[in-house]
Amino acid sequence: MNNFTLFGDICYNTTERTLATATGAYLVCLDGKSAGVFDFLPEQYKHLPVIDCRGQLILPGLVDLHVHAPQYSYRSLGMDLELIDWLTLHTFPEEARFEDLAYAKLAYEQFIADIRRGPNTRSVVFATRHVPGTVLLMDLLEDSGLITMVGKVNMDRHAPAPLVEHDAATSLADTRAWLREVTGRYKRTSPILTPRFIPSCSDALMEGLGEIQQELSLPVQSHLSENQGEITWVESLRPHTMSYGHAYHAHGLFGGDVPTVMAHCVWPSEDEFSLIKKQKIWVAHCPQSNINLASGIAPVRRYLEAGVPVGLGSDVAGGAHTSIFRAMSDAIGVSKLYWRLMDQTAAPLTLAEAFYLGTLGGGSFFGQVGGFAAGFEFDAIVVDDREIPGKHNLTIPERLARVVHLSDERQIKRKFVRGVEI
Ligand code: GUN
Ligand code: FE
Repeated sequence: MNNFTLFGDICYNTTERTLATATGAYLVCLDGKSAGVFDFLPEQYKHLPVIDCRGQLILPGLVDLHVHAPQYSYRSLGMDLELIDWLTLHTFPEEARFEDLAYAKLAYEQFIADIRRGPNTRSVVFATRHVPGTVLLMDLLEDSGLITMVGKVNMDRHAPAPLVEHDAATSLADTRAWLREVTGRYKRTSPILTPRFIPSCSDALMEGLGEIQQELSLPVQSHLSENQGEITWVESLRPHTMSYGHAYHAHGLFGGDVPTVMAHCVWPSEDEFSLIKKQKIWVAHCPQSNINLASGIAPVRRYLEAGVPVGLGSDVAGGAHTSIFRAMSDAIGVSKLYWRLMDQTAAPLTLAEAFYLGTLGGGSFFGQVGGFAAGFEFDAIVVDDREIPGKHNLTIPERLARVVHLSDERQIKRKFVRGVEI
């Protein structure tokens, strides 16, 4: 039922730097997993139905390692502000509205319709601090066919009254209630612990989240060292902590045995960089958000050289676009500015490296995801790049460059997630 073959021009990363390409080749799906890429279809697969995508590109589905579902409604607004003012003036008032389930339903449906049309197949998602709204978002995402990790946000300080949680005990009780409700409820949707960031979370809240993590072995997502003013604020809130990253680590919420993704990581101190590396933190690089909020440029080359797993995030609404093709294009662009203006030893990202970040790099947070080698989960998109005006008769990597920089959702013709077409 779930077994078939896709025929077309195939491209995926085998390593950070290398693309595998195959023109007029077969990609076999068995039980939701890739059985490999073949120039000639092996005898044992000849009985499978063939989906003919001749002349089109077959690529791994893209992975958004960091996105805020409730912020979709106001993306592109307030972009003349920096992080803390933008949170205060735009984010917190909007997120407060998600107390209202009817409002939440409309807003979340718009967000999901957008990502369903686009190239992303998996996302790691912030909801809001509200339990009913978060469960609703998870129900809607489950129905979408996409695969996601979703977090009820924890925030018990430094936000206005309708949004801030009453105290640590309330936040923790809500988190436990949410987890009771969603555990075992879905096939494609799973919970992830989500302390918003250190300024939003008291020490008591962080302590309690660490206990929940220990009990339930959940993954963790948060923000780290995004903006210089934010980092100074964290230093004043936690004067005895060695770095911003150490503030999560102090509560067992920073990698090691705990799969952890931290958005941004733009301004790591030496101590923080070492801890990110030691604890194998996934860095969600969010270049468009870092441009829009004038946060800075993350040292992605340094992370890659250190063997730190890096993926890409849209960070909607810091970023205005959900597509991870756009994040790849922006990641290449900002890496050139970083090299030119900040560190001439940090070579700009190549196209293959940017494609790696948005597929295998982020995909590794979900397991064997983001490639087509045998055994990988079968997430694939079919892109008709012939529709993009301009030069044709190009090599597959050249065609990929046009897709990364120029395509939009109209060229995404088919989309498969874990072997199921959506
Ligand atoms: N830091 C804390 N909350 C947020 C948020 O919603 N967006 C971004 N970009 N950074 C944050
Ligand atoms: Fe964010």
